[in-house]
Amino acid sequence: MSVAGARARLTVLLLAAGQGKRLKSKTIKLLHPVAGQPMVRWVAGVVAELRPSRTVAVVGFQGDEVQASLEGLCDAFVVQPVQRGTGHAVMQAAKALRGTSGPLLIVNGDLPNIEAATLRGLLDLHRRSKAALSLVTTDVHDATGYGRIVRNEKGSVVRIVEHKDATASQRRIREINCGIYCADAPALIATLKNIRPDNAQREYYLTDAVHALIAKGRTVAALKHPDAHAVLGVNTRAELASAGAALYARKAAELQAAGVTLLDPARTWIDPRAVVGRDTVLYPDVIVEGASVIGEDCVVRSGSRLANMVLGRGVEVKDHCVLQDSRIGDEAQLGPFAHLRPGSVLEARAKVGNFVELKKTRLGKGSKAPHLSYLGDAAIGPGCNIGAGTITCNYDGVAKHQTTIDAGVFIGSDTQLVAPVSLGEGAYVAAGTTVTEDVPAGALAIGRVRQLNLDGWVARRKKRAAGGGSAHS
Ligand code: UD1
Ligand code: CA
Repeated sequence: MSVAGARARLTVLLLAAGQGKRLKSKTIKLLHPVAGQPMVRWVAGVVAELRPSRTVAVVGFQGDEVQASLEGLCDAFVVQPVQRGTGHAVMQAAKALRGTSGPLLIVNGDLPNIEAATLRGLLDLHRRSKAALSLVTTDVHDATGYGRIVRNEKGSVVRIVEHKDATASQRRIREINCGIYCADAPALIATLKNIRPDNAQREYYLTDAVHALIAKGRTVAALKHPDAHAVLGVNTRAELASAGAALYARKAAELQAAGVTLLDPARTWIDPRAVVGRDTVLYPDVIVEGASVIGEDCVVRSGSRLANMVLGRGVEVKDHCVLQDSRIGDEAQLGPFAHLRPGSVLEARAKVGNFVELKKTRLGKGSKAPHLSYLGDAAIGPGCNIGAGTITCNYDGVAKHQTTIDAGVFIGSDTQLVAPVSLGEGAYVAAGTTVTEDVPAGALAIGRVRQLNLDGWVARRKKRAAGGGSAHS
């Protein structure tokens, strides 16, 4: 059989119906984000690397949300309306799995740190050992809560005992069941039909299939993973945090190996889906979310958050910027304290400075908005200077309106642009102007009260004040 042929027949069953009570959350455990994605989506994503011919997920508690979180990664969903245990969950899928001939990979949904290599190793062992069921185990310091692997004097696995059902001596076993299995589907399902919920939790345990299959003379194989962190389920908030930390650490190491400088990798959180170019420097407390792309030779300073961003090369993001769903061209500069809201574009060498907020705004090549501005729904051409305190008044209380600023426009400080409004190429706006009408190319728009200087007013006022009089001029 060719490798490709063997792969083509792989079926995956994802167990994702349980609530996960130990998180003490209103939200099902599997939807809690780990390094930017719902925990269960990590599992499904790693499983997809094996290119299974079919992936089925068992959902139940908050099933619609779980199903949505797995979008694009599963071929079918089976509902387990009441969560009566992992064995019961597999049985709910029996019909959907009918006709499955190749290996059936069953994975708990709470293993965000799982790696494709582990799954491949298990599939290999399963084929070589001709087992009816193969499973992944690992040794842990504190096995509380986990199913213990009971082996006989020859070292073969004979059964799994769940923590709540274990005797004092079984609880001393440090080898645990990870919740990753490979099975001969018809054999497993035939066996699970006969298991009973006669245990401390009154549940149908998938793990009871181990001794039941052995009793039928079938083989159960075990793969002991040397690194517990990669195969441990998340059951508590503490484990949730460590699972995320492990994924971020893996990403940081990968980036360092690819030529990215992280001043303190433990304090730099890069979404594993993100891409960062060579010789880019990321300072501590930088958060990169989603499938962001950061080019080469960029610098991102402390306290900045980049979510779903695309940065060209040589971009400088100074401290404390919040940048979302936007694109930044080569050698642009931002911050400190800049805010890009979704749909913004900074073209090459553009500059956005302190306390400047952009929303659905394009800032052309080399254009600058260095201080204290709100630019929303605006298309700004190249070579413009947007003075301090410029505000696009894009909302009239009912609808949003567009501002268009052509190339080379100079806008003086403290200007309001009441949209919809257009400024032609090379126009000037005098400081303090409220622009309510379009400005033709090359024109100066000035709209402010003419200044009056009252000579000697200060001295007169002081004199009156000293004499007890009023300050009227
Ligand atoms: C399970 C194993 C245990 C193992 C541990 C590893 C059983 C009986 N025990 O225990 O040996 O050490 O995982 O983390 O399998 N689920 C359903 N439907 C249900 C119950 C659970 O779909 O009715 C799903 C959950 O969503 C989860 C997975 O199955 O993804 C495991 O459930 P969980 O309750 O965490 O099992 P544990 O008690 O931790
Ligand atoms: Ca678990």
